[in-house]
Amino acid sequence: MKIEVIRTVAEMQSWSGQAHSIGLQVGCVPTMGYLHAGHQALIRECARRSDLVVMTLFVNPTQFAPHEDLARYPRDFEGDCQKAADAGAHAVFAPGVEEIYPPGYSTYVTVEEASRGMEGAVRPIHFRGVATVVLKLFNAVRPEVAVFGEKDYQQLAVIRRMVADLELGVRIVGLPTVREPDGLALSSRNVYLKPDERERALSISRALFAAQAEVQAGATDPKRIAGDAAAAIAEAGLTVDYVEVRDPDTLAPLDAITAPARILAAARIGSVRLIDNMAI
Ligand code: PAJ
Repeated sequence: MKIEVIRTVAEMQSWSGQAHSIGLQVGCVPTMGYLHAGHQALIRECARRSDLVVMTLFVNPTQFAPHEDLARYPRDFEGDCQKAADAGAHAVFAPGVEEIYPPGYSTYVTVEEASRGMEGAVRPIHFRGVATVVLKLFNAVRPEVAVFGEKDYQQLAVIRRMVADLELGVRIVGLPTVREPDGLALSSRNVYLKPDERERALSISRALFAAQAEVQAGATDPKRIAGDAAAAIAEAGLTVDYVEVRDPDTLAPLDAITAPARILAAARIGSVRLIDNMAI
């Protein structure tokens, strides 16, 4: 099946307006492309919750710092359109950079609390870029519902906060992380891992599963649980950016685990940066 490709905000708004005028609900799945089974799971979930699914495909320059991997972010437009169609998307909104950020562009959205710490500490402008582009994509697609992955757990919290604070009226759905059979979280960046790095990268999900087991066995000290996980990841030769145990909703730091919590980790292996998180 050939999927519809939309390149401009005006065309996108008119497509969505037509859908709404005949009573159809529009769903949105924002992505930066190079789709894997995790992205496709979001599209399938979105198709269950709306009549028409728009996948957005835009590698957003404002969420990358100058030294990050924007220029070498993997791309496969034709393959992505095919995978999106296979998963049940009806249209791909793939604007050029100038369409989203024309010359003179100068408005940004900052979600203060949820952006602090963890990814926000390591990547200071990242969530400002994410919030800004997601708001702009929503303004183009005008969806009733949008689906995001728990893989980027802090991003999901930032988006939920923005949608509530700015009363955007979009229902935000979070979907559990899709993993390889051995536990590695699917990521567009996994293609950069050499075979031995791929093996060592497994230490991240293993450490988080081990943290789950520790808590199940009665551990309650977040520092100790995060410390054990960080040590196991470092042991495999990765550089740990952070391992943190946080409140699953507010992402506030915890003194003790007395209720469901979240463990979140980021580590680097060579030039590849990987993140993961789990409920504990
Ligand atoms: P991207 O990294 O392409 O991810 C697009 C969506 O796929 C996000 O909601 C992300 O959480 C989800 N995702 C990634 N890996 C997943 C996995 N293994 N299982 C389930 N879902 C997964 O996140 C972004 O793009 C961008 O920041 C974006 C929101 C599009 C703004 O530019």
